[in-house]
Amino acid sequence: MANLIRAFEQRFLLGIEKLDTDHRKFVDLVNQLECSEKKTFIKLYPLLTKHISEHFMAENSLMAESGYSGIHEHIDEHQRVLNELNRIGEMVSNGSVSMGRTYVIDHLPNWFEHHSRTMDSSLAAHLKSRGFATV
Ligand SMILES: [Fe+2]
Ligand SMILES: [Fe+2]
Repeated sequence: MANLIRAFEQRFLLGIEKLDTDHRKFVDLVNQLECSEKKTFIKLYPLLTKHISEHFMAENSLMAESGYSGIHEHIDEHQRVLNELNRIGEMVSNGSVSMGRTYVIDHLPNWFEHHSRTMDSSLAAHLKSRGFATV
């Protein structure tokens, strides 16, 4: 099966170490989930949720610390995705892996591509301008 995001591509790089490291891990987890059997999928899905949740908290803190003007819109979007992840996660933990698979394979890669190149990219530009590049 082909991975939707084969590797962490250059175009995703934001130049903020913490964000790039987290985004790489996100891509790795999505690719692992895509190729995994049902049992592994059920085990990995909560790890993906945990990783994303921690990453969102880190970005939310950076936005607050750096006085980012787009903070509310960006936090709302993070919360929307977390709600989605948790809702699907309940189905996955009850054994409905097909819904989880559809979400992870058909939805998350496109969401990541869009989110990283819009909201995260604006945040990265702001962080660089405030001297937060190596957080
Ligand atoms: Fe991000
Ligand atoms: Fe974000």
